[in-house]
Amino acid sequence: MAEVEKAEELYEGKAKKVFTTSDPELLIVSYKDDATAGDGEKKGTIVGKGAINNRMTNYLMQVLEQAGIPTDYVEELNDRETVVKKVTIFPLEVIVRNISAGHFASNFGVEEGIVFDQPTFEYSLKNDDLHDPLINDSHIVALKLAKQEDLDRIRELTLKVNDILKEFFAKLNVTLVDFKLEFGRTSDGTIILADEISPDTARFWDATTGEKLDKDRFRRDMGGVEDAYNEMMHRVFGDNA
Ligand code: TYD
Repeated sequence: MAEVEKAEELYEGKAKKVFTTSDPELLIVSYKDDATAGDGEKKGTIVGKGAINNRMTNYLMQVLEQAGIPTDYVEELNDRETVVKKVTIFPLEVIVRNISAGHFASNFGVEEGIVFDQPTFEYSLKNDDLHDPLINDSHIVALKLAKQEDLDRIRELTLKVNDILKEFFAKLNVTLVDFKLEFGRTSDGTIILADEISPDTARFWDATTGEKLDKDRFRRDMGGVEDAYNEMMHRVFGDNA
């Protein structure tokens, strides 16, 4: 493809910077090592995280594309930077859970580790000031954040992503506990998967030992954070990690 040039910084988020490019339909994302948790109250650095999340996201996006999920992935530029399709993001965190953990356990007063008969599906409104509250379909439609038909498509794609990723990680002896997705709309109106899929945005447990291989090690001050990210990188890329 033609060379895509970085133009201006559009946005700096907690874990990524986003740049406009010479092509109005494309953006460049740049992954940082910065980590936050607990509504941004806890801040730190996970050395090497940016490169790991960039490469893992890109790999998983390509796995998903091949399985028929439309994604924003275009081209990896280097360790930390990737060209993606420009989308208008729905301001929703789309969360799927296969096993109880995190806020599911704390909100509903149950222990972590309950294996569900079928995945749960929920949305949080992306709004830091409101602490990303849970929100349902009728609220989203009432607030005109998406139409019901958009939500039906997002749900269909998300459950398919869960099936594909559960199987993908099971082969690496990793249990996919839960994860968060974000979706956006391209200029032609197509809904596609965007943002990242990484140990920042998913919970991964070693299938044999139950060891946590994700950002919970940072959130909960468990130590071994970098080791966990590196371990996930090795499971996915083997000797090419
Ligand atoms: P959840 O248990 O709701 O929240 P927390 O991670 O704060 O305990 O998270 C479910 C999954 O979704 C988990 O793998 C982390 C991911 N997630 C994000 O990546 N960003 C978010 O803002 C939220 C709420 C969850």
